[in-house]
Amino acid sequence: MTDIVKTLTEFSQKFNQDLAACFSPVQGAENRVIEAMKYSVMNGGKRLRPYLLCECAALFGVDYDTSFPAAASLEMLHSYSLIHDDLPAMDNDDLRRGKPTCHKQFDEATAILAGDGLLTYAFSYLSQALIIRPEIRLTLVQLLSDAAGAFGGMVSGQTLDIYAVSSADDTENKSIIARLEEMKTGRLLRYACEAGAVLGQADLEDRKTLVSYSRKIGQAFQIADDILDRIGDQSVVGKTLHKDESQNKFTYVACYGIEKAREKAKKLTNEAIEEIEKFGAKAENLQLLAKYIIERNY
Ligand code: IPE
Ligand code: IPE
Ligand code: MG
Ligand code: MG
Ligand code: MG
Repeated sequence: MTDIVKTLTEFSQKFNQDLAACFSPVQGAENRVIEAMKYSVMNGGKRLRPYLLCECAALFGVDYDTSFPAAASLEMLHSYSLIHDDLPAMDNDDLRRGKPTCHKQFDEATAILAGDGLLTYAFSYLSQALIIRPEIRLTLVQLLSDAAGAFGGMVSGQTLDIYAVSSADDTENKSIIARLEEMKTGRLLRYACEAGAVLGQADLEDRKTLVSYSRKIGQAFQIADDILDRIGDQSVVGKTLHKDESQNKFTYVACYGIEKAREKAKKLTNEAIEEIEKFGAKAENLQLLAKYIIERNY
């Protein structure tokens, strides 16, 4: 186990315990949706986004307890995006994090509602986090809604993912892929880093550095996801593979092939690592994480 995998595993153990405590059952048949929400959140994700958020906040001396509500709400929102991404109307996937997808385990209506429930609960939970100063909380709510939304956020990226078609013009393709990656995956990873800077009341320069780092790892992350879809080991990845090809998805790998995609991801990772050198030893875990993002096998 590499150091960063060990660190991430230790973080996840603590984070998972705290996250599970956010989901109390309710009386009555409506508890079904809470069960589906909990099932989808607590099913073994890598917890990269919350880790990234806590680690960026820690650069500015913010402790885990203060970062937790922002980290938890981000993971809730990310899990909602996965439930809806797997629905028959979207990617139509049966397997997520090595287990049946929410609509397979429950049913489609429950999965739609569980996604809705997680999206709204994320904002409710964050906005009520008294440990965070009110003006910082409001900034986080604004940033998270923009990152997740339909005006250049994750929802726009998902729309492009489903409806973008490749063009005969290579430059045009490159630009569509860059926008797609930036929005569907990049924005939530960027939020993780920016939220850390906001929690830590970082100055504009440091915040910009983290945004730049996040853009690079965000793109590398999606390229790695697309490579795993092509050549990963399904029992390790925990998702049905070769979906992008069969659904004609517009990915960097589809346009440029595995080798070019690997080179691109490596270049982005090196740039991301360089970007945060100015933080010194405090940023070592963020540098290791950037490498892990492209070397991971799930
Ligand atoms: C998967 O994200 C969805 C993409 C943005 C490609 P992760 O690979 O972080 O999924 P989990 O949270 O570890 O399951
Ligand atoms: C999903 O991208 C991104 C979001 C959920 C926003 P993918 O469709 O590539 O993710 P996987 O491969 O199903 O995890
Ligand atoms: Mg998808
Ligand atoms: Mg998918
Ligand atoms: Mg994918």
